[in-house]
Amino acid sequence: MTIPVTARIGALVLASTAFYGYVGQMVPQSEVQPPPASIVIPADLTTDQMVTVGRQIMDTKGLCFTCHTIGRTGALRFPDLAGVAGRAAERVPGLNDIEYFAQSMYEPDRFVVQGFNPGMPAINRPPIGLTDQEILTVIAYLQSLGGTPTVTLQTAHAYYTPPGAPDAAPAAADSSAQGAAPGAPPAQGAAPGAAPAGGAPPAQKPAPGAPPAAQGAAPAPPASPAQR
Ligand code: HEC
Repeated sequence: MTIPVTARIGALVLASTAFYGYVGQMVPQSEVQPPPASIVIPADLTTDQMVTVGRQIMDTKGLCFTCHTIGRTGALRFPDLAGVAGRAAERVPGLNDIEYFAQSMYEPDRFVVQGFNPGMPAINRPPIGLTDQEILTVIAYLQSLGGTPTVTLQTAHAYYTPPGAPDAAPAAADSSAQGAAPGAPPAQGAAPGAAPAGGAPPAQKPAPGAPPAAQGAAPAPPASPAQR
């Protein structure tokens, strides 16, 4: 028995359509997402992770490589960043590498590398506008260029003190520590005042005879000098 040619062609067309349709379905559909507005930086990032994130930020939002190079020599318009960690601590007297990198991003014109013109934008302001946390990760990456990254997301420097930074108070934030200190004694002064509240019972003894108004004002001031 023979199958008519038209039937065979029809079957072939159906079979191949079904086959390619099936294969086409298996190809993953890709969709291009717009880049995130800001990179999310978890607070517990390790220093090593910060190096990686810092480099990503420099490649993208930081726009650093529209000007800078790493490992290029010759007549350059912008300082090459290869080994910059080795030079950072010597650039400005009194600034260690972290403070120097911070200054070179927050206040680029404060110190201008010899042989170059000013012109680097302040990295924490628009249009680049990196956050303080992002800048810390960039510092970690810069430290890795010829040095050892030491910075963490809790590291304070002259331009930024992270909230609740434990290392911050002794190292860099002398001024803010002094700001805190005056605040502390009043708190202690308040505590003795609070303690005499335990001295409320004595106040209650005279209470029977005394007017209620006196309880608020009078008992308190005598109480704290008396107990001191
Ligand atoms: C528009 C060009 C431009 C961009 C963008 C730019 N810089 Fe710069 N940068 C400069 C110039 C010019 C200098 C040299 C003058 C100076 O010291 O301010 C410099 C200097 C530096 C230095 C000091 C280098 C040294 O040898 O001491 C560092 C560090 C640095 N930039 C890091 C960065 C980082 C990190 C970014 C991105 C977040 C960045 N720069 C983006 C132009 C730029």
